[in-house]
Amino acid sequence: MFAFASLSIFASLVTAIPLIARSPSPSCTITSIDDVAACKKSCTDISIGDFTVPAGQTLDLTDLLTGTTVTFTGTLCFGYKEWTGPLVSVSGTDVHIVGAPGSVLDGDGARWWDTKGGNGGKKKPKFFAAHGLKSSSITGLTLKNTPVQAFSISGVEDLLLSSITINNKDGDVNDLGHNTDAFDVGSSDGVTIEGATVYNQDDCLAVNSGRNINFLNCFCSGGHGISIGSVGGRKNNEVRGVTIKDSTVVDSDNGIRIKTVSGTTGSVSDVTYSGITLKNISKRGIVIQQDYENGSPTGVPTDGVPITDLTITNVKGTVTSSATQIYVLCAQDACSDWEWSGVEISGGKYSDCKNAPSGTC
Ligand SMILES: *[C@@H]1O[C@H](CO)[C@@H](O)[C@H](O)[C@H]1NC(C)=O
Repeated sequence: MFAFASLSIFASLVTAIPLIARSPSPSCTITSIDDVAACKKSCTDISIGDFTVPAGQTLDLTDLLTGTTVTFTGTLCFGYKEWTGPLVSVSGTDVHIVGAPGSVLDGDGARWWDTKGGNGGKKKPKFFAAHGLKSSSITGLTLKNTPVQAFSISGVEDLLLSSITINNKDGDVNDLGHNTDAFDVGSSDGVTIEGATVYNQDDCLAVNSGRNINFLNCFCSGGHGISIGSVGGRKNNEVRGVTIKDSTVVDSDNGIRIKTVSGTTGSVSDVTYSGITLKNISKRGIVIQQDYENGSPTGVPTDGVPITDLTITNVKGTVTSSATQIYVLCAQDACSDWEWSGVEISGGKYSDCKNAPSGTC
């Protein structure tokens, strides 16, 4: 009896070992779009090598298992189709998206670029949808030549985007690239973007709504500046708690800007820009306007989206000779509790400010 019992214990140990080894492997490699669905259901360590996502399809990394890490290791390309995208989509909790050194997500945007961006011409796919991520990070990704907007960040809670490169320099040739916003943020609570390097042709950051948004140690070139807005006319029109710090804007239309949409409602509050260096800004160093409309501002500010508790400190640099240093167009009593210090912008025309709180510009 004793011997038999020992034998059965031994036998169950022997079978247990292969069972552990055979349990579903948590890691897998995607080398084709056909691998994605099965892989994201069973793996928490996913690596994505060289391949081309077929035209008109999304690399669908939504609903990843909690705790999943996705590492891009090679060159990801995308087939050509006129459609709205996105080319890549991710969602989940405790998800970590990593770009290994040398990896690139290459949009080859020139196939779509026609100077019109999202306003007409060819239908262009948005690039990277980071929607509904919770307690997650995106690190070290390089996006090249996005057809139109790069990152759409929406409905997230607690997301860190660090050391991301967006290089759309090729779109500067003949102004072909348009509306290639780097980071569009909406309806999110807790987004930190740090150490980004951006060469594009529209906003480097655009916060439409959300709370607790940080933009730190970033470099922006070729675009429209670091923006809040446009705010108003969407489902969510509240921006509260934005810190933009220690960043540089060069060769761009604007340095920093806040734009609220004419005739709408909402609010912009508790915003800080500090330690911003500007160079070769061709329209406005600082621009705050409450008359915005896509394409053409009305010239008449409206008071439905007040801008309050705005701190601007240590914003320094140069604008070109035809540019305006500071432009503020507020409706009466719609801009209050502003604190500005250490704003030193040279070149261009002096400031043009309406209804700015006293002691600011
Ligand atoms: C200034 O910026 C513009 C883009 O706004 C660019 O075309 C031009 O080359 C830049 N000038 C210098 C001297 O870098």
